[in-house]
Amino acid sequence: MLFTITSKNLDSGLRGVPVGTCRTSFVDPYEGVHYVGYPVEDLVNMEEEDVIFLLMNKRLPTEEEAQEFHSELTQRGESIPTGALRVLESLTPGSGHPMDWLSIGIMALGAAENTGDAKADAMNLIARMPELMARIFRLRAGEKDKLKPRRPGLGLVENFVHMMGYEGQQARDIERVLRFFFILHMDHGGGNLSTFSGKAVASGRASIYSSISSAMNALSGPLHGRANQACLEFVQRIGTSDHKEIEDFVRTELENRRPIFGFGHGVLRAEDPRARLLIELGEEICPDDENFKIVRALREVVPPILSEIPKISNPYPNVDIASGSLLHSVGFTIPEYYTTFFGWARVAGISAQILDERNARDGRGTPIYRPKYIPKNQPLRRLE
Ligand code: MLT
Repeated sequence: MLFTITSKNLDSGLRGVPVGTCRTSFVDPYEGVHYVGYPVEDLVNMEEEDVIFLLMNKRLPTEEEAQEFHSELTQRGESIPTGALRVLESLTPGSGHPMDWLSIGIMALGAAENTGDAKADAMNLIARMPELMARIFRLRAGEKDKLKPRRPGLGLVENFVHMMGYEGQQARDIERVLRFFFILHMDHGGGNLSTFSGKAVASGRASIYSSISSAMNALSGPLHGRANQACLEFVQRIGTSDHKEIEDFVRTELENRRPIFGFGHGVLRAEDPRARLLIELGEEICPDDENFKIVRALREVVPPILSEIPKISNPYPNVDIASGSLLHSVGFTIPEYYTTFFGWARVAGISAQILDERNARDGRGTPIYRPKYIPKNQPLRRLE
């Protein structure tokens, strides 16, 4: 017996209800996320392509396989089809939220080049993401002329940084932060909302592009991926690393029933190792950054305050606490864009999980999702 469903589980957001198996990652409540069994801290200093290979193949690549995989992504990453580009260029600079552009961009790629071969489409999308991201950043900012052409052979993160036109030490710093961020956000078990949404859509045999675009729409919510934007805005609203002032601020927010961003999680019951790793990176690259100093103070001040509240099951930092301050410290000063980096990273994890479900049951695939809903307040009646 895996689980006993009672009425308490209804309308609970499926929280803790087992609904399927996941072969790419799991989230231990105390040790955090593991990719195919590896704690994420073992993987965070690797090449992002090698970690994508791990999620796709359930083992790390040999040196030869790593090179082949790298060049396969290079080949598949050739310039974005004109049709998809026209769609992005038709959007008004500054309009919508960057996550809207990401979802639209993925659907435009699908309209232009969906093959129906899920593995090929997933690999094509993963390979195209650096250019799609760079074009979203530059086009939405009305800075089309700043875009550099893609340089075949560069890694995924490296090519994004190159196409954005960054050079020298700034480019190196950005690559370091983005690669770290990228690997930490690729996957987080089978049941987080973006992954679950993408798999639900894919279970109807919709295209990879439709499934991933749906997942991005799920990620755009402030209770999910957009929390990293909200967290940096929260840090900037606090504006001081003085512990007493932070305590007063946090207590006022709690009294007004406003969220304390960067803390708590649906599964984790200890500090998110992704948060710890990002803070360790922050101590290395931006220890004196004003936002980062506030993050460091929040990490100390907030857990004891939240622990006073019995209904709070996890008073500890989650992945969003530091990611915004690190992105800001290397030059990404517009918090709206932070969730697109989360989405970019998650494309790999969700794609790998969709492919696993497509190959399940000896290739017949996981059946279309069809959870049961209990009728409520619907007495049978007939029209007179
Ligand atoms: C995630 O990485 O998706 C978030 O931590 C949310 C979750 O796991 O539910």
